[in-house]
Amino acid sequence: MLNLKPIMISGKEVLPLIEGGKGINASDGRSSGAWAHENCVGTFSGVSPDFYDKAGNVVSEFISLKSRPERHQEMIERAIKGGVAQAQVAHEISGGRGRIHMNMLWEMADSQTVLEGVLSKAKGLINGITCGAGMPYHLGELASKFGVYYYPIVSSARAFNILWKRAYNQFTEFLGGVVYEDPWLAGGHNGLSNAENPEQPETPYNRVIKLRQLMNEYNLQEIPIILAGGIWNLKDWEDYIDNPEIGKVAFQFGTRPMITKESPISEAWQKVMLHVKKGDVILQRFSPTGFFSSAIKNTFLEKLINRKNGEVAFKTEQDEEFSVPFTINHHKNVFIRPSDKEKADKQINAGYTEIQETPDQTVVFLTPKELEEMKEDRKNCVGCLSQCQFSTWSASSPTKSTGKLPDPRTYCIHKTLYEVGHGGSVKDHLLFAGH
Ligand SMILES: Cc1cc2nc3c(=O)[nH]c(=O)nc-3n(C[C@H](O)[C@H](O)[C@H](O)COP(=O)(O)O)c2cc1C
Ligand code: SF4
Repeated sequence: MLNLKPIMISGKEVLPLIEGGKGINASDGRSSGAWAHENCVGTFSGVSPDFYDKAGNVVSEFISLKSRPERHQEMIERAIKGGVAQAQVAHEISGGRGRIHMNMLWEMADSQTVLEGVLSKAKGLINGITCGAGMPYHLGELASKFGVYYYPIVSSARAFNILWKRAYNQFTEFLGGVVYEDPWLAGGHNGLSNAENPEQPETPYNRVIKLRQLMNEYNLQEIPIILAGGIWNLKDWEDYIDNPEIGKVAFQFGTRPMITKESPISEAWQKVMLHVKKGDVILQRFSPTGFFSSAIKNTFLEKLINRKNGEVAFKTEQDEEFSVPFTINHHKNVFIRPSDKEKADKQINAGYTEIQETPDQTVVFLTPKELEEMKEDRKNCVGCLSQCQFSTWSASSPTKSTGKLPDPRTYCIHKTLYEVGHGGSVKDHLLFAGH
């Protein structure tokens, strides 16, 4: 039996066991409240969380016909209401035990507005904020303003070093811990940098030691490192416990709690998870954020993989290599490699007749139905990300566009996560999962 000693997390002595935040709706007030109730730490997701009407029913996301900036505003207001509602549910279930954290995707558009809105309305209910996917420079300042602890999620000592030097050294009081999320193993978006090979996982031990050494240099010996990614059974992590080289440590579980009865995900999703085999969870780069992410290979991902495999490069001027004339959707004449001609014809003959240009001088092939769905998804965009490769939405740009071509190799992550998080098809939506 492991001897897990309680440690201070967000101002209270609790067991060093943490539920990872999971959007959309894959960790909420119910699951986080249950974790806190056991004197651990529960994390609800602050990405489009549910809120309820007077009768206690979920108020479904309403995509109105207003302009995209208006829909975006509506999404922000809903996220604030949802964050407060989930904090209240979590608090009630916890019975005041343990700690409740809120997770925020930094790359969500206006994530700071949502955080400020929730924290100002849910005073005393949220003890900490975890934040990943991007570089959350302002997190320390924002959390300190509200007197809550903050937990950046990083995948290397290098990333923490940048955050510390640029911002966090000014806000030491409320730095609650540093989450080391293994970029090869963890579910959801992963922090693989260009220097790291997705095919060559590195063992977490050395990377965690590097992080601890760096933290010690900054006098952060007492700040726990929270290990995330591939944590299933603590027996596999005995080397990390009571190890002076690693110091204070806690364990964050993302995937495993999804198959508990307290998890908010659908039974169908849990069933899929219980039957995954080795190799079914894959690390890929289809997310419109541009990040790598880890998910279960289902029909949804297979379609994207096939589309990517069918991709054909073109040039607008003919040369020796790109010698075969090719017409994109009856209007644009370009040139492709002779070796790609058969590949293109095969797809068109199989019904993938809609040829869509990517931002990288390539085309991919879609069925008319797929193209219709894509157009509909772009039309309904609520501008959930700070920048989106799928719709070209850019929250910070005056034109609200990245100015690039929309990328048909990606998808609307907001739609698919929202739908599967509310009982949608487990075949046709994205199922994030760790390895
Ligand atoms: C379905 C799912 C959704 C997730 N969503 C988020 C998220 O919105 N924000 C975040 O920081 N991490 C997210 N994660 C990562 C988890 O919080 C956790 O760190 C990770 O799953 C740990 O790895 P494991 O899955 O191997 O346990 C998600 C993970 C899963 C499986
Ligand atoms: S199209 Fe992109 S920005 Fe718009 S809602 Fe979907 S994922 Fe978010």
